[in-house]
Amino acid sequence: MKTAISVLAVVVALIGIRLYASPPIRPSLEPLQLRRLDRYVRITDRPFEMQDSTITFCRPPEEIALNPHDPAFPETAFCHVYVNEIAKNPMLTGKGIYPEGSLVIKSKLAAADSQKPELFTVMQKMANGYDTERGNWKYTVVDGTSYRQLASGRIDSCIQCHEQYKETDYITREYIAEK
Ligand code: HEC
Repeated sequence: MKTAISVLAVVVALIGIRLYASPPIRPSLEPLQLRRLDRYVRITDRPFEMQDSTITFCRPPEEIALNPHDPAFPETAFCHVYVNEIAKNPMLTGKGIYPEGSLVIKSKLAAADSQKPELFTVMQKMANGYDTERGNWKYTVVDGTSYRQLASGRIDSCIQCHEQYKETDYITREYIAEK
């Protein structure tokens, strides 16, 4: 009986340690709510006219191979940029590393007065170790009509370009007027 009780005590203690030691729910698991952009902080006052190169390249990787002279490629495109609360400070100041769980969303508009984004590109800050050498960002592309995720992960084509912005933790801040 005594042995049974001590065995039980050890088991209970182990469960206790396990529960205590299990990591808290990671903030990076905050679900993306692209249908509810009003939940985020909008950084752009008005639609920002995207750089030519990004109209071509800031898009799903499988589309990059398309002929850029194809008329399907618009001459201009606009975007709005949104962040969640914890990403606001590094975005506005251009200083520091974005905390884990940060979300930066770019909604691409075909024209400045488009009511509906045609595409979303997202950067989400993951836990250290996700992609340590390249800022631990997860890149995602979501279709604006179906909200279907077109690509997600450590997408090399995205990283290759965002790498130039390492100084501001891989975030371009191109649309911030007083950079
Ligand atoms: C050719 C360079 C280039 C490539 C490739 C690229 N981006 Fe960007 N990205 C930019 C530029 C420049 C901006 C600033 C806004 C603009 O002009 O479109 C930007 C802005 C963003 C933003 C807003 C945050 C920020 O950094 O300012 C997100 C999110 C983003 N890109 C995600 C992606 C994803 C996801 C991919 C891959 C599918 C990707 N980008 C590929 C150049 C690039």
